[in-house]
Amino acid sequence: MLDFRIDEERCIQCGECVLECPAGVIAMDGHPKMTNEAGCFQCQHCLAVCPTAAVSILGRNPDASTPLAGNMPDPVHLATLIKGRRAVRRYRDKDLAPELIDHLLAVSCHAPTGVNARSVLFTVVRERVVMNRLREHLIGRLAKLKEGGELPEGLAGKYLGWTVSAWQEKGTDILFRGAPHLLITSAPAEAPCPVQDTHIALATFQLFAHAHGVGTVWDGICMMAFGVCSDVVGKLGIPENHTLGYAMAFGEPAVEYQRTVQRGPALVNVVQW
Ligand SMILES: Cc1cc2nc3c(=O)[nH]c(=O)nc-3n(C[C@H](O)[C@H](O)[C@H](O)COP(=O)(O)O)c2cc1C
Repeated sequence: MLDFRIDEERCIQCGECVLECPAGVIAMDGHPKMTNEAGCFQCQHCLAVCPTAAVSILGRNPDASTPLAGNMPDPVHLATLIKGRRAVRRYRDKDLAPELIDHLLAVSCHAPTGVNARSVLFTVVRERVVMNRLREHLIGRLAKLKEGGELPEGLAGKYLGWTVSAWQEKGTDILFRGAPHLLITSAPAEAPCPVQDTHIALATFQLFAHAHGVGTVWDGICMMAFGVCSDVVGKLGIPENHTLGYAMAFGEPAVEYQRTVQRGPALVNVVQW
């Protein structure tokens, strides 16, 4: 039930919601009307575009949305965030406040998803003690595989083999880079764009986390470990029918970067048609 409602006192019959609806399911009949509930994919563009906050859908009160005018970050600061974000590999040995993690996830779930599926599952390690147990389990399994010569070629010497030896010889954590938390995204395999959705969700989380001074690192080593210890994914509570997106370690950084790096120019291919 979409619960599409128009506040007729506020509606100025401008037709913006009709023009904006990507599914074409709103029509003007005096005031806007929902013509096909099943065709709506619940993107809320009608609510977002209405100049007088007259549209409500899915029980959402438009007055509870954040107004955009004057509230957007300025491009200069946003560019600094994008260029100043680093893969953080040193973390403080403390948990983030659970409320902060909840806030990061509550905002990150606004990331776009194909056909507005919004089915990305955020699997999160919220406590260091859990992270420590997971690390112990995974590195223990990897060590046994390494001993038995069972690590896949290419991963044995380099990535996973190194993860085991660094931990055993120096107590250095290559698996999670010493981060207190882990975020893994997944989405039902039957979603229209499960791979893209999961990656976009993590990229969104990453930038928002950095805006809060929370460090993150995309964790390819963890993904490789899941690849060779695949039963662990299910034990983390990720449903069997889900496509695994990626893992990201995060927490309070124990490093402070002073300036952006200098990359570019962007590799650009201009289409000549
Ligand atoms: C898909 C992906 C996987 C990555 N896996 C790891 C990893 O397992 N361990 C690690 O320390 N860094 C990992 N990184 C971080 C990259 O090495 C890092 O982004 C790159 O060196 C550029 O540095 P920057 O993120 O500070 O700009 C990964 C990054 C990406 C995008």
